[in-house]
Amino acid sequence: MKLNIAVLPGDGIGPEIVTQALEVTKAICSKFNHELSYKEALVGAIAIDKTGVPYPQETHELCMASDAVLFGAIGDPKYDNNPSAKVRPEQGLLKMRKDLGLYANLRPINTFPSLIHKSPLRAELVDGADFMCVRELTGGLYFGRPQGRSEDGNTAYDTCVYTREEIERIVRLSYKLAEQRNKKLTIVDKANVLCTSRLWRQIAQEIEKEFPHIETEYMFVDNAAMQIIQWPKRFDVLVTENLFGDILTDEASVITGSLGMLPSASIGIHTSVFEPIHGSYPQAAGKNIANPLATILSAALMLEYAFDLKEEGALIRKAVDASMDAKVVTEDIASGEKAYSTSEVGEWIINFIKNN
Ligand code: IPM
Ligand code: MN
Repeated sequence: MKLNIAVLPGDGIGPEIVTQALEVTKAICSKFNHELSYKEALVGAIAIDKTGVPYPQETHELCMASDAVLFGAIGDPKYDNNPSAKVRPEQGLLKMRKDLGLYANLRPINTFPSLIHKSPLRAELVDGADFMCVRELTGGLYFGRPQGRSEDGNTAYDTCVYTREEIERIVRLSYKLAEQRNKKLTIVDKANVLCTSRLWRQIAQEIEKEFPHIETEYMFVDNAAMQIIQWPKRFDVLVTENLFGDILTDEASVITGSLGMLPSASIGIHTSVFEPIHGSYPQAAGKNIANPLATILSAALMLEYAFDLKEEGALIRKAVDASMDAKVVTEDIASGEKAYSTSEVGEWIINFIKNN
């Protein structure tokens, strides 16, 4: 098979971790006789520095011409501390989501036995938790217009908009994911207050009839925030709108104690994007200490979702598990034992792939 991917390292630790994920992808492709071609492009603060904009047209064209995008992270402290900066790296991320039509952000939440002790929850609550958050990514308050300030500057407004089409496609996708998993879907909204949420619920109730073999439940977002902490093992697939999803997926990602381990997939109308959940970790940039596993697992998701290469994705997962069993891990998860560098972890995983 021919795999044609765009590689967007971005900012902070992005370049280092993406290098490892790319090397792992190369190793998989040579083992399974796939032909990999890839091109790199700029995104984020580095793109602002070099071109003046965070998501240059050239990068967009490369993404559109590729079968999948492997993405690192964006963000730079020099923008965080300057709220009046007109151009910001995050704008590049939002533009990329909109222009590539990345409507569904999939964040699988699962635990790793050797990291359970890092969870803020008691091990018995979280051990074995395994669910998929599906966050709508191109609608809602992030993109609704009007958005702005009154003339006197003392009133501000954002608009939450959802169309039937946007809701239908993500609810259907979530049912399909539930079909491949444990056949339970939780639809999270605020239908007791918000009009957009009532449309979500109405449409979900229509689609529910097409999937009688899936157990459907409806939950208000405030309750969902509580249940994720109290009983995370009750969830299988959870779907929700953009802002609720932003908040709930941060919550869900930390309860496992494995933030540095979690990958994500943003399913697009044109091209899909695969990236770690954690950010650009600027303090570690260039030091060869960042944990590359979430990006390597994102490459596994890419093989599975964008190319339907299940066996290849599974071998990456197996290699990642093996590296953890062998305690070949970076300092963030080394628990007082020897810490390996970013590249050492990547090399160990590549060797495992070659030999298994
Ligand atoms: C995320 C991030 C982004 C978001 C920011 C950086 C714009 O928090 O991917 O979850 O809010 O969507
Ligand atoms: Mn977020």
